[in-house]
Amino acid sequence: MTPVFLNGQIMSREEARISPLDRGFLFADAIYEVIPIFRSRLFLWSEHYHRLERSLSAIGLVNPYSEAEWRHHLGTLIEKAGGGDLAVYLQVSRGAEEVRDHHISEGIAPTVFAMTLPPLPSDPALEQTGARIVLLEDIRWHRCDIKSTALLANVLLRHEADGKGAFEALLVRDGWVTEGTSSNVIALKGATLTTPPDGPQILPGVTRELVLRLGASEGFSIRRERIRADELLKADEVWLTSTRRILAPVSQVDDHPIGSGRPGPGYRRLWLAWLRHLNAFAAGVP
Ligand code: PDD
Repeated sequence: MTPVFLNGQIMSREEARISPLDRGFLFADAIYEVIPIFRSRLFLWSEHYHRLERSLSAIGLVNPYSEAEWRHHLGTLIEKAGGGDLAVYLQVSRGAEEVRDHHISEGIAPTVFAMTLPPLPSDPALEQTGARIVLLEDIRWHRCDIKSTALLANVLLRHEADGKGAFEALLVRDGWVTEGTSSNVIALKGATLTTPPDGPQILPGVTRELVLRLGASEGFSIRRERIRADELLKADEVWLTSTRRILAPVSQVDDHPIGSGRPGPGYRRLWLAWLRHLNAFAAGVP
């Protein structure tokens, strides 16, 4: 059986039932997290938990569990799923009502759902040749900092990128790069790593934060500044970060090669730093 967590209980995915009047289903009135699991342990838990609390509070939902309860429930789910290297997807919606109504009533019980996700297959071609991505207009709303399940724009933009044979779409608002449809962006020029500042137009990515921290300890200087789309093309290297793909080197943006047109030395250095960090975590360093 594929175990899932629903409202306090672990059950098989086939058994799990959610009302069609759930506001998550009707209005995407819900938030979510995707948390990496490494050697059966939640990796970067505090950072993901902090963002979960932030998203809940941004849409006016009371956290249904304490941090210890979350850890307990997710730990049980991971164990039932057989552990290993996975990810956990969790979602909290505002819950189901008797009638569909935009109005938010008081006292609805939230729907809490979680499942494990298998690891993405490794992509040696990506490491060797880098990713080709496309620039698309950012048509999303103005609260992209909330990890909301309302991802229709992201999904359509990703579909457009897929149609162009691209790995990801990097989104551009008024000439400024924001982020990918499901990733953040970092540009390397000289010894400086630049990434767009946190704000309503991007999701504050947990992976990006760790890559920047590792980058700083590798001696790079860090700048949180807006990047113009035309400036991005002049970077030595461009990387995408996300929980699912971790660190992806970009070799081409639209028709323009980035740097040498291959994954660069900065990427390799940061990737090794990431592996060292992961090994330290596996050895029990929190
Ligand atoms: N998405 N920006 C967007 C719009 C994202 O959806 C994601 C991740 C990120 C990277 O955030 P993090 O490093 O914390 O995963 C940035 C997840 C993985 C998803 O929707 O599956």
